[in-house]
Amino acid sequence: MNLAVFASGNGSNFSAIVKAIKQGKIKARSVILVCDNPGAFVLKRAQKSKVKVILASRQDFSSRKDFEAAIIQRLKYYKIDLIALAGFMRMLSPDFVKKYPNRILNIHPSLLPAFKGSHAIKDAFENKVPFTGVTVHFVDEKMDHGRVILQEKVGIKVKDNLTSLEKRIHSKEHKLYPQAIKLFFSGKIKIGKS
Ligand code: GAR
Repeated sequence: MNLAVFASGNGSNFSAIVKAIKQGKIKARSVILVCDNPGAFVLKRAQKSKVKVILASRQDFSSRKDFEAAIIQRLKYYKIDLIALAGFMRMLSPDFVKKYPNRILNIHPSLLPAFKGSHAIKDAFENKVPFTGVTVHFVDEKMDHGRVILQEKVGIKVKDNLTSLEKRIHSKEHKLYPQAIKLFFSGKIKIGKS
């Protein structure tokens, strides 16, 4: 199976996935990176690990439709079976999602449905909840929404600050996402209604 990781920023989850492929834990035939941000650190990571990059900036296209059509054309060219959103900070259109039914995953740093959005760790920390976590889920047309594949708790300790909590959440993500992709590739996730 061929995998496309979509990322917009740092790319630590991208690196965790690539590492799991190189270690043979995820049986992907090939992996590509799709990035929408020419300044993203993930591009350096891809270069270092010799992963092919599709760079598509939204501002280079006159419409979202054209932007997504260009990406879809490359996904078809590389015969992509699964898309893993890993810090891709852009909503995919319902038309895009329909083209890959139950074939788009996302990772989110909270126990969904709690704390959706782009500041999930900070929101959980500031709300003083006793625990938060990490969720890997199928993507549907709503933000941070869709059938949950794996979900794990991360406790918030009294001595935690935002940085220490972020660190523990990210290290949980780096284990959970490769695990979920492995489950998908080994056919162990039942594809029902998402
Ligand atoms: C991750 O924490 C991921 O869960 C989050 O963006 C971060 C990307 O980190 N995604 C979302 O918040 C999606 N709503 P990374 O670039 O180091 O992988």
